[in-house]
This record gives sequence, C-alpha cells and structure tokens, in this order.
Amino acid sequence: MLLTQPKGFFITGTDTNAGKTTITKMLVSEFIRRGYNSIGCKPISCVENLDSHNHDGVHYLEVNSIDLPLSVISPVRFNLPVSPNIAAKASGKEICLKELNQQLRQFYNLPLDYIFFEGIGGWRVPVNDKETVADLVKLLQVPVILVVGLRVGCLNLAMLTMEALIKDNMKIAGWVANVIEENTPVIDEHIATLQARFDAPYLGMVPHLVPNDNACHIDVRPLI
Ligand SMILES: Nc1ncnc2c1ncn2[C@@H]1O[C@H](COP(=O)(O)OP(=O)(O)OP(=O)(O)O)[C@@H](O)[C@H]1O
Ligand SMILES: [Mg+2]
Repeated sequence: MLLTQPKGFFITGTDTNAGKTTITKMLVSEFIRRGYNSIGCKPISCVENLDSHNHDGVHYLEVNSIDLPLSVISPVRFNLPVSPNIAAKASGKEICLKELNQQLRQFYNLPLDYIFFEGIGGWRVPVNDKETVADLVKLLQVPVILVVGLRVGCLNLAMLTMEALIKDNMKIAGWVANVIEENTPVIDEHIATLQARFDAPYLGMVPHLVPNDNACHIDVRPLI
C-alpha cells in the first residue's frame, strides 16, 4: 500500500528506558502487518558500544520494510551513553539540527507509508548548547506519541512531559502506557489517573512483555 505522502510520527518517552524502542518496533511491525511500507529510525543515539548488535538503530534494521543502511537509519551516533550535547562535545562535534532534519527528510522521497522517528531520552534532552529534542521535532513537523514508562513514580514524569508537549504546541497523536516494571502495583489506577488528565488519545497498555510475545498491544487505528 502506498499513501500519497509518507506519514511521520515522533516517539518520545517519559525518560530514557521508558520503552521507546520497544513501542516503536511494535508499531512498525503492526503497520507492516497491515500492508503499509514502514520504517523506524533513530536520528540521534548515544550508546555504550556502537559495534554491538544491541542498539536502537540495529533493532530497526530487523523490522523495517525496506533495507536502509544503519548510517541512514541512525545518522548521528556517539559512542558514549550520555546526553547528546555532552556526547557530541566529548567527540569534538556539535549536532546541527537543521542538517539532521534535511537528512531525515530524504525518507519522504522513499516508497514509504509510515516513518517512526524514535527520540532520545525524554522530551527536554539537550542536543547542543542551545537546542533540545523538542527543536528537532519542530523542524520535522510530525505528531508526537508519548510512551509513559509505567512504574511507581511515572505520573509526575508523564504529566510534566505532557505539559511540555502542550506548551511547545505539539500535535499529540496519542500516548501509550508501557509496563516496564514487572510488578508495578495498581496499573489500572495509574492509567486512569492519566486518562482523566490527558486530552490526547490513549492508545493502550503494553503489559510487561514475556519472551516471544509478538502481539501488538497498541490500538493503532487513531494513527492511520
Ligand atoms: N513492556 C515491556 N516489557 C518488558 N520489558 C520491556 C518493556 N518495555 C521495555 N522493556 C525493556 O526495557 C528496556 C528499555 O526499553 P527500550 O530500549 O524500549 O527503552 P527506550 O526508551 O528505547 O530506551 P533508550 O532511552 O535507551 O532509547 C529494554 O531492555 C526493553 O526490552
Ligand atoms: Mg531506545
């Protein structure tokens, strides 16, 4: 299936390890299953070991419907697992969001229906001396999906992030409750608390996943 123009989404999270890659992979796989050409990508990544096969860009190579090299899927990479402004400085570089945006816009010339851009850390992560992740999304001009890493203590992070998204005039496509901690108590109450306060569509709860659970736990219909 080919839409007239690819549709993009930016996946942010309440924090690093909120489950952005897990949710993005789930979305890419589900859209491909529904017959849409889709990719996930990681515009900026700062990881412990770039040679390992366990970083975000590599995860997307496994699921994307078209073969693109890691240098395209994950164009800005640093071998230091810290905030990108610090990782870039440590390697004598500076991230230029205008340049990155131009690179990422090349995806729109490919035969794609959906492009999922994974964020880095949370919403207000600095990428250089002046800008944050939010400035990249302003350039990309795509709606945002918020992944709430569901665990005790997440309500504060979730509400602060939603406030920031609204303040930044983002179009919010929806939010997902992702149960990152196995024995999180009162999951339903956490979700109800956020549902009562958020206007954005609730796309569903992803339980703490067990191996080989390849189901899509997200209601993707509001995204189509
Ligand atoms: N619902 C879940 N059930 C079980 N494990 C999960 C779930 N969501 C995430 N995880 C695990 O938690 C860890 C962090 O998840 P993930 O890599 O998706 O987070 P992230 O937000 O992409 O992190 P980063 O900020 O490094 O990009 C991974 O080991 C992942 O497998
Ligand atoms: Mg990730």
